[in-house]
Amino acid sequence: MSRAAARRTQVGIVGAGPAGLFLSLLLHRRGVESVILEARSREAIEQTIRAGIVEQATLDLMAELGVGARARREGVAHRGTNLRFLGRSHRIDFARLTGGRVATLYPQHEVLKDLIAARLAQGGEILFGCKALAIEDVQGTHPVIRFAGTDGAAGALRCEAVVGADGFYGVCRTAIPEEKRTEYVRTYPFGWFGILCRAPVSSEELIYTRHARGFALISSRSPDVQRMYFQCDPEDDADRWTEAAIWEELQARLAGADGFRLKEGPVFHRNIVAMRSFVCEPMQHGRLFLAGDAAHIVPPTGAKGLNLAASDAWHLDRALGAFFADGSAAALEGYSAAALRRVWRAQHFSWWMTSMLHRFADASPFDERRQLAELEFVTGNESAARGLAETYVGEPFG
Ligand code: PHB
Repeated sequence: MSRAAARRTQVGIVGAGPAGLFLSLLLHRRGVESVILEARSREAIEQTIRAGIVEQATLDLMAELGVGARARREGVAHRGTNLRFLGRSHRIDFARLTGGRVATLYPQHEVLKDLIAARLAQGGEILFGCKALAIEDVQGTHPVIRFAGTDGAAGALRCEAVVGADGFYGVCRTAIPEEKRTEYVRTYPFGWFGILCRAPVSSEELIYTRHARGFALISSRSPDVQRMYFQCDPEDDADRWTEAAIWEELQARLAGADGFRLKEGPVFHRNIVAMRSFVCEPMQHGRLFLAGDAAHIVPPTGAKGLNLAASDAWHLDRALGAFFADGSAAALEGYSAAALRRVWRAQHFSWWMTSMLHRFADASPFDERRQLAELEFVTGNESAARGLAETYVGEPFG
């Protein structure tokens, strides 16, 4: 590769997802300079359909950074959610159980639009279409990110710290030598079949359903666009399904003695989401720091992905802030352990919600009865319901 003259910045961030963007905004607030490299185009990022729940702490962080106005206006506050099983819905009242905290439905790509616009308005640099190829010298004081620019030309960014916020398939995690990291993985033997449809709202609050045919989730995007999911074979082909078959499956899983029916409409988007739990420890190696999906993945059942990215950015901003203020390496060393506390809390929650609500092909009749007993307990016992509510709306960062 030809050695182009390296550009310089204090923090080189790989990836313009929630972790990278939150971090660059936070660093800017304390006067630390950063450049973001992003392989995809701005349009692609802003249009990829993703999950939709924003925790209170994430919403507060957006407000603090001056990027929360649209989320406050257009986001829908969910003061509770429904767990449905044996054909009946059971409401978990977040607001009452958590002293007024709520979860906000505001899809991730809307968050990204707000963060990108704000960062560019500050004069921040986000180099779209620039693909990171390798991270060098992470053990030294000036690591270098090698990348291919929009025209394919070789580029280099010399930094004092590199942040790998480049997702599960990015190059940054593998820049940590294999013997220096431990990867914890759990793959689930099912996926989520997700649809977007043009139909009225079926339920004002989300419905997480456990049914003998498998899990289903009813969510929303706007008064006339709905997002719904049902548990499927992860190898299934989404295009194989007719719209009639999709609605029959969803209706069957939501059916109950209460006569609940989903409001149907034309399906205009469909995809299959893989389900995996993953953590890489530690989240740091020398001057390389991992954040967001590059370091951890949660199944979407707990709605934690975006929020963990925001939490990582929050911790990393404090660590990098202390480092650039007084050269404190101790602050840098503390990042991984601090971030991982919330990561593992969310891992447990997401795994637990997934286990409680999905159909497992190898489940015995005992397992099924135990699963129902657990749902009865969580929805019927005030303390158990509060535990779910508190984790779902999320604790403050730090
Ligand atoms: C969504 O609206 O896409 C959504 C909401 C809650 C989840 C997952 C996805 O747990």
